[in-house]
Amino acid sequence: MNTVNILFVPGDGIGPEVMAEVKKIITHFNAQGALNANIDEDHIGGIATDTYGTPLADSTLAKCRAADFVMLGAVGGPQWTNVDYHLRPEAGLLRLRKELDLFANLRPAQAFDELLGASTLQPDVVRGLDIMIVRELTGGIYFGEPRLIEDIGNGERRGIDTQVYTSSEIKRISHVAFELAAQRRKKVCSVDKANVMKSGMLWREEITALHKAQYGTTELSHMYVDNCAMQLLRNPKQFDVIVTDNLFGDILSDEASMLTGSLGMIPSASLGPVNPKTGKRPAVYEPVHGSAPDIAGKNKANPLASILSFAMALRYSLSRDDLALETENAVKAVLAAGYRTPDIMAAGCRLVTTSQMGDAVTAALQGRLEKAA
Ligand code: IPM
Ligand code: MG
Repeated sequence: MNTVNILFVPGDGIGPEVMAEVKKIITHFNAQGALNANIDEDHIGGIATDTYGTPLADSTLAKCRAADFVMLGAVGGPQWTNVDYHLRPEAGLLRLRKELDLFANLRPAQAFDELLGASTLQPDVVRGLDIMIVRELTGGIYFGEPRLIEDIGNGERRGIDTQVYTSSEIKRISHVAFELAAQRRKKVCSVDKANVMKSGMLWREEITALHKAQYGTTELSHMYVDNCAMQLLRNPKQFDVIVTDNLFGDILSDEASMLTGSLGMIPSASLGPVNPKTGKRPAVYEPVHGSAPDIAGKNKANPLASILSFAMALRYSLSRDDLALETENAVKAVLAAGYRTPDIMAAGCRLVTTSQMGDAVTAALQGRLEKAA
């Protein structure tokens, strides 16, 4: 069996705790002979700034490039709020995205039946929810130039960011959305602000043309981002795949994640272009929840988003849909058996720690899970 080289960059806050639980899953698959995975580890974010003087060292970046894929925990924390702009933990993450050309960010929002009570919406509104948000991740206002704060005299300053998209950037993310939709319910909703923004007009024109030329069997609709934010709360099940730009995707994916009850459940994949020589694509998998400094080091964080991110890695980097499904089913089994970290705790369930949750998922994979409560 091919050796798989995985680089772990756990990062800051709860990152190391939740990533430790992913290692248990890998150890299980290795022991079972289902995988032959090597794990290497390095730093990103605030801890990298403290260790190497930069939030993403060149040597770490080289390891990220060489690995089959990267498992990332989280970056950021109050220790680093006042450091120079280029030393911020977030700068490490943005550099990683840009350098590996991780243009396609997949953020699924799926409702688990067992957690319907944890959503702030009525159960009927979210039951069975299964949305895939496809966020463009290397363009738009996150990277557009000019970006600066300048003095314009008379004690006035001006802050500038630039929203910019080219046709090819819009087309490549649209391809990803259409291809994902083809495996799902064959509906793409493209979200923009074409009623105000030129880049939004171009977005709409390009995806419409691409749809017409190549993806006629998939339904394409368009929605303004303000309306989409509202529709996600009103009737989220109308959506299958949502494709949108970097900034709108950042905002809408946080909103969509809360439909499912807890940010602690949402995985993500960030994918680069397929290398025509190797057939592989650079990829980083990370939970959407962030570093949660308030609970860091307390063994309270929910590791399920990280474990589900690893399931995405099995599917998108290793084409092991069988193991991905096994992992996802193990997570469902653990929830059904009543194991809960504090963020998803409910009456009649058993409160467990981060490590107990990872053990429970491992037990489920090994067919020896016991009912928690
Ligand atoms: C995310 C985060 C990042 C982003 C931050 C940490 C830079 O919010 O991955 O959604 O804005 O992209
Ligand atoms: Mg965000």
